[in-house]
Amino acid sequence: MAEKLQLKGLGQKEVDAFFNLINTRHEKIAEAPATPLQTKFPVNELMRKLHPISQALEVCEIIEHTPDVKTYVFKRTDGEPAYFRAGQYLSLVIPVANVTVTRPYSICSTPSETKNGIYKITVKRVDDGFISPFILDNWTVGTQITSSGPLGRFYYEPMRDAKTVIGVAGGSGITPFLSLAGAIRDGVEDANLILLYGSRTESDILFRDEFKAIEQACPKVKVVHVLSDSTSGDPTDGIEHGFITAELIQKYAPTDEPYSVFLCGPQQMYNFVDGELQKLGIIRKYIRHELFGEIKNPQNIPGYPEDHANQTYRMTVRNLGETTQVDCNANESILVALERAGIATPAHCRSGECGFCRSRLVTGDVFIPSDIEGRRLADIALGFIHPCCSYPLSDLEIIAPPR
Ligand code: FES
Repeated sequence: MAEKLQLKGLGQKEVDAFFNLINTRHEKIAEAPATPLQTKFPVNELMRKLHPISQALEVCEIIEHTPDVKTYVFKRTDGEPAYFRAGQYLSLVIPVANVTVTRPYSICSTPSETKNGIYKITVKRVDDGFISPFILDNWTVGTQITSSGPLGRFYYEPMRDAKTVIGVAGGSGITPFLSLAGAIRDGVEDANLILLYGSRTESDILFRDEFKAIEQACPKVKVVHVLSDSTSGDPTDGIEHGFITAELIQKYAPTDEPYSVFLCGPQQMYNFVDGELQKLGIIRKYIRHELFGEIKNPQNIPGYPEDHANQTYRMTVRNLGETTQVDCNANESILVALERAGIATPAHCRSGECGFCRSRLVTGDVFIPSDIEGRRLADIALGFIHPCCSYPLSDLEIIAPPR
């Protein structure tokens, strides 16, 4: 049989080798014991436990810092432990006002606490926000929700990051650093953390006592509060005034070794601190940004085309065999327009990174801020977009993924 077969580009030697391989394989199969195939795969089961796609959580405690800032302590309802890296987030699935939306919240507990099945997140009220007021005013002990497993890349990675991390935090962007500081204290991460935490006044500082306790227990963690609207305190109390400038970073950074800079806070803080970091000439791989969620006013982003702000466009959405017409405001992401219309769309990071909301743009134009362009080159070429960071510039037609 083999000698009669002719395959383009192959000689008789290659054809013989190919058939010998098949014969050998048949012999091995015939020799194999007739025991049933394995049906349990312990490694896969462990991986699913440690990295669940979704998990059911219940609020078991609420710590009220102020009426507008609360920490929610969740336990997994299946009682399982979970693994995460300090700095990761959970994407919470929140049904509110007849729509279901997702929001990413950094985990502020430590990996050690999470071995007991406990996660903590902190929610700060955003005055014109949609979700934070709902959570703060409605969630009580016993509230049950669904979340993703731990996600995100804002964690310390010794293969990539320098041994010393300068943390730059603003507002509620402090939460992943509380987790990282606790992980360093617990010996889970081997790094030094010098945290520059920007607040307006001392009363706006979150987790002051918690950080003080970590500093006292662990010399590898140092915290400096940088107050923009207050003159009280001085460096001997761990307080500086003004903004987190290049000079301030240099004052606390090591002089004899490279250091990484991790940033987490509002978009305006990134715009300012990134300019300061350029003055210091820090190489790109040592600068890490946590995602800051959706951009609220894309028209303020450099590159936004004129004459589109405040326009309303018509979007045709194809999803699970149905076609729906949706109004889409130029100031809002396409993801928000989908959620507002009650079209459940998978989403986790809401910042262009995770790719869960990936959709096909059939017709129309969108604005995508270059800072949060997270699409693969193939997706760009084939017309896929991430609705969480795409803003309409014309009427559109998209094919959205099912949740
Ligand atoms: S939700 Fe992550 S890329 Fe859109």
